[in-house]
Amino acid sequence: MSDLEDILRGVVGDRHVLVDGDLKAQYETDWTRRFTGQARCVVRPANTAEVAAVVRACADAGVALTVQGGNTGLVGGGVPAGGEVLLSLGRLTSLDEVDVLEAQVTVGAGVTLERLQQHARPHGLDVGVDLAARSAATIGGLVATNAGGIRVVRYGSMREQVTGIEAVLADGSVVSRLVGLAKDNTGYDLAQLLAGSEGTLAIVTKVRLRLVPLLPARAVALVAVDGVPGALDVLAAARAGLPALAAAELFLAEGLELVRTHGNLAAPFTEPHPAYVVLECAARTDPTDDLLEVLGECESVRDATVASDVTGVAKLWAYRETHTEAISAAGVPVKLDVSVPLRELAGLVADLPGAVAGAAPAARPIIFGHLGEGNLHVNVLGAGDQAEDVTDAVLRLVASRRGSISSEHGVGRAKARWLPLSRSESEVAAMRRIKAALDPAGLLNPGVLLSE
Ligand code: MLT
Ligand code: ZN
Repeated sequence: MSDLEDILRGVVGDRHVLVDGDLKAQYETDWTRRFTGQARCVVRPANTAEVAAVVRACADAGVALTVQGGNTGLVGGGVPAGGEVLLSLGRLTSLDEVDVLEAQVTVGAGVTLERLQQHARPHGLDVGVDLAARSAATIGGLVATNAGGIRVVRYGSMREQVTGIEAVLADGSVVSRLVGLAKDNTGYDLAQLLAGSEGTLAIVTKVRLRLVPLLPARAVALVAVDGVPGALDVLAAARAGLPALAAAELFLAEGLELVRTHGNLAAPFTEPHPAYVVLECAARTDPTDDLLEVLGECESVRDATVASDVTGVAKLWAYRETHTEAISAAGVPVKLDVSVPLRELAGLVADLPGAVAGAAPAARPIIFGHLGEGNLHVNVLGAGDQAEDVTDAVLRLVASRRGSISSEHGVGRAKARWLPLSRSESEVAAMRRIKAALDPAGLLNPGVLLSE
């Protein structure tokens, strides 16, 4: 092929430049199957120096890059629009020794979350972020998208775990600050700037993360309630009474039906209920008694089942964690990920079906998410040609309730058009100036986050 591919082969080796349609295909469509685009070629560098050389070659040729980790993103941010070189970071799998004294570790961008969990746990430490896509989602992607997941209520999002970063800038230069000082007040925090920048400012190649204590004793409750107001009562009681609270999640009756059918799961209670909360407590000693006491005192609890053994805990989590795969098995969903102040949550859930039906009468919204952050995943099945109209209706409703159009999945290509609903004109203008300063030619993830 052309000069650029030859140069790239010289950098990463022939085997790691994919030009064949069949070989490229798995990188060109996202996990949801909704976003797809053709890459000029797929390049798989093995280390930071190779990433830098690839970026320099693309910059010299004036060819844009799409950066991809585990391809588990849900907003089309890791698939090409068309014609980009797709840079896959899956081979950046370096894993430094766990630094037990600092409770930190340095890892390559391509290490999966699950691999890092396995690496940290024998040292009595754990990763502060956890999510259902753990076996494929990579640390670089999680940082670049500031991923959230099920432990945000306790430890914050990915950005809160980052103490250092190494990244390749758009001109191929490398910035590296991986010492992970607990205090470091020497100007702009590039690590925090890059966390959540969705690959638009630089390519994250290594990350230093803080680790949290491994808490082996877990108790999980699946709690039935009459609706979202009841779920919020349970959350408030758990926040006040359970210092060991490690997760607070929400799903509704429709979602339970879907996951039960998909996974052949037994009904958790004799009666169905409108809404369900999953609470998890994690501690060094069994937190079950505290959990039971708090639930016993909360008047909004209609029914509850609690487990503290590994199998029982996994069974209860399955009702919540298999939502994504059950929805995808039922069709290609429009996936919206929003958050509102907790006081607005019940009103939003009440208004959502009407907003969706107004845009696509035959569509079916499945609503679930991370209760602690007022973060709803609004997954809409059967929207057909009305996907954009559904998105518009839901995101406007969220904005009218002072919410965010992307709570944890990022903006990607899917929501770039709607960014002004959540960020002011002057904020977007400032973001564009930062982008122009770090990537003046617009080579990194064009069309992602900031519309072109
Ligand atoms: C989850 O929390 O399960 C995912 O972020 C949600 C989704 O698939 O929309
Ligand atoms: Zn989520």
